[in-house]
Amino acid sequence: MNSTKLYKARRHYLASQMQRGVAIIPTAPERLRNRDAYYPYRFDSYFYYLTGFREPEGVLVVVAETNQSESKSILFCRDKDQTREIWDGFRFGPDVAKETFGFDEAYSISRLDEMMPDLLASQPTLFYALGQDAAWDARVTGWINQVREQVRKGVSAPAKICDSRTLLDEMRVIKSAEEIDVMKNAAAISTEAHRRAMQLTQPGKQEYEIEAELHYIFRRRGAQAPAYTSIVAGGANACVLHYIENNAKLEDGDLLLIDAGCELDGYASDITRTFPVNGKFSPVQKDVYELVLAAQTAAITSVKPGSTWDDPHQAALKVLAQGFIDFGLCQGTVDDVIESEAYKRFYMHRTGHWLGLDVHDAGDYKLHGSWRLLQPGMTLTVEPGCYIRPAENVPPHFWNIGIRIEDDVVVTETGNDILTVAAPKSVAEIEELMR
Ligand code: GLY
Ligand code: MN
Ligand code: MN
Repeated sequence: MNSTKLYKARRHYLASQMQRGVAIIPTAPERLRNRDAYYPYRFDSYFYYLTGFREPEGVLVVVAETNQSESKSILFCRDKDQTREIWDGFRFGPDVAKETFGFDEAYSISRLDEMMPDLLASQPTLFYALGQDAAWDARVTGWINQVREQVRKGVSAPAKICDSRTLLDEMRVIKSAEEIDVMKNAAAISTEAHRRAMQLTQPGKQEYEIEAELHYIFRRRGAQAPAYTSIVAGGANACVLHYIENNAKLEDGDLLLIDAGCELDGYASDITRTFPVNGKFSPVQKDVYELVLAAQTAAITSVKPGSTWDDPHQAALKVLAQGFIDFGLCQGTVDDVIESEAYKRFYMHRTGHWLGLDVHDAGDYKLHGSWRLLQPGMTLTVEPGCYIRPAENVPPHFWNIGIRIEDDVVVTETGNDILTVAAPKSVAEIEELMR
């Protein structure tokens, strides 16, 4: 399927789910970083999922009618503008955007306020992500009030507001073959980056030097950006879960935890590897590392159709709890450690999340109060870890060991496919690559 058809099919499917009503899906605003300098622009994931359109100042309006053939998709976007295009680059403009992206209609964004009240008039339901952006909320309620003011003309305002994300999240949680292909390519770039990081790490280098090597591979291979702020955490820094300073010296004898993944054409990859700065695990580092790896292997094995979302987490917990007991870090039985949550002192996050256009992707984890079942096409991370901070009742040889191992996994008909398998993770593979 070519990409225009793909986006069109998504809009048709959304319209069929809406039955009758209007969906308003604005893309993300441009955001100032400081004074007049902007952050690099990133479109809204829902908007992009339905349009493939990457420019700022776009709004998608889907009008769903009971007779499906009367439903339509309308794009509002920036006009062509010779001067702005000299300064900032190409703009599609409504006419070319309509043809290129397969919309039924396209108009200048400057007409949005004028046209929206008519598009909303006498429609029963508005589908809109209320609460995501206060400025848009005010604008949308303004349009609804304008419709209400016309009540004596016989029009009515939507009686119901549904969150558009409820329908879209369920679409996004199952990836198409085309999406999985892009995610495979993103994963391939990120695994190359992690391999390079392992090869170039040495005692005495700075964390940011390794960060630069990762980002070099991302951009050299065409990824637009890191999918999230890269974590390059040597030694004790690995025990800070969201460490992003990346400005410390790498010490001989420490581990280095790298959590970094690129975004390619909107899709995230998310990989963590942990390895010794000097290329050789110490005996205690190896023991803890192999525990986390065993937990990850158990979790990945339980990623298959029919497992619940929580099964990989529980599989990882069982292995980790036993390990913590064996190391003397926790007391009692595995069930005790899990029930009392004593493990949380060393493993305080969950074992994964959906992955897709957003690194923590769209989709509910429970349906009707129960963990949902995994289905082919779902993509998730599997990322157990162990973080041991210095404390009186923890043997000092464990202090400041922070380890996480994270892969991107897609559920298949028969089990799963690990998209990030090319990043080494056994002790032998890592030591071999670093030699
Ligand atoms: N890098 C974000 C995460 O692993 O969830
Ligand atoms: Mn993750
Ligand atoms: Mn991660």
